[in-house]
Amino acid sequence: MTDAVPSLEVSGLAFAYPDGHQALFGVDLTVGRGERVALLGPNGAGKTTLVLHLNGILDGGAGSVRVAGLPVDKRNLAEIRRRVGIVFQDPDDQLFMPTVREDVAFGPAAAGLRGAELAACVDKALSLVGMAEFADRPPHHLSFGQRRRVAVATVLAMEPEILVLDEPSSNLDPASRRELADILRSLDVTVLMVTHDLPYALELCERSVILSNGVIAADGTTRELLCDEETMRAHRLELPFGFDPRSVAARPATTGGR
Ligand SMILES: Nc1ncnc2c1ncn2[C@@H]1O[C@H](COP(=O)(O)OP(=O)(O)OP(=O)(O)O)[C@@H](O)[C@H]1O
Ligand SMILES: [Mg+2]
Repeated sequence: MTDAVPSLEVSGLAFAYPDGHQALFGVDLTVGRGERVALLGPNGAGKTTLVLHLNGILDGGAGSVRVAGLPVDKRNLAEIRRRVGIVFQDPDDQLFMPTVREDVAFGPAAAGLRGAELAACVDKALSLVGMAEFADRPPHHLSFGQRRRVAVATVLAMEPEILVLDEPSSNLDPASRRELADILRSLDVTVLMVTHDLPYALELCERSVILSNGVIAADGTTRELLCDEETMRAHRLELPFGFDPRSVAARPATTGGR
């Protein structure tokens, strides 16, 4: 029956920054268990502001956020941060330990894992992203794409209820971009992915929502949204030159949720 509880329920979320700039004006968004949803929208729409509410980095506005039924508020913050894995746009905001292994171990160790159990958890997360042989390297010696993968591993090690990625494909070379897509597809986890990379959204996410001026302006299948020229224009979304979403064959339905 627990599958009936959505991974994420955002309701009436409104938020103004301390300088008075209002970024969110009542966001409603529900993401079911095992769904992969792309969060699209122009620069300044409020996407990152929304993401920062999902694990309580920002709070104090109106409305509510629930993760697997648990309200995001100060009393639950430790549990919420175990459940919500955020991969920030810049991996350097996430990696701060002397070695890759320590970075990936940080969260699980804080959650109480020790010894062989902790080592196994770190190895598993690094293997998932193909970075096991980098465990003893300092993160700052890695390339950007490698650091992005390690950032994903730090989050996977927590076995989150929902994986939230802010611009995961930015600054990746085409092979790394595809490899990250393969990793994301292979995971059995709910995903909310902020992206300006519309082909990536189409490839990975059956459903997309458009955040525009601090509200959800559209919600539907990614293919339909990308083919809706009026909606796309209204929200400053543009497909790459020569890319026709109609010409991309639908990916065979995967096993989807759990
Ligand atoms: N710390 C801040 N103080 C005041 N205003 C802010 C702050 N951070 C963001 N904003 C404003 O809030 C609005 C939403 O910003 P946000 O970063 O959420 O947009 P975004 O959709 O993530 O954009 P992008 O696609 O460029 O990453 C913008 O108008 C921005 O200028
Ligand atoms: Mg942003």
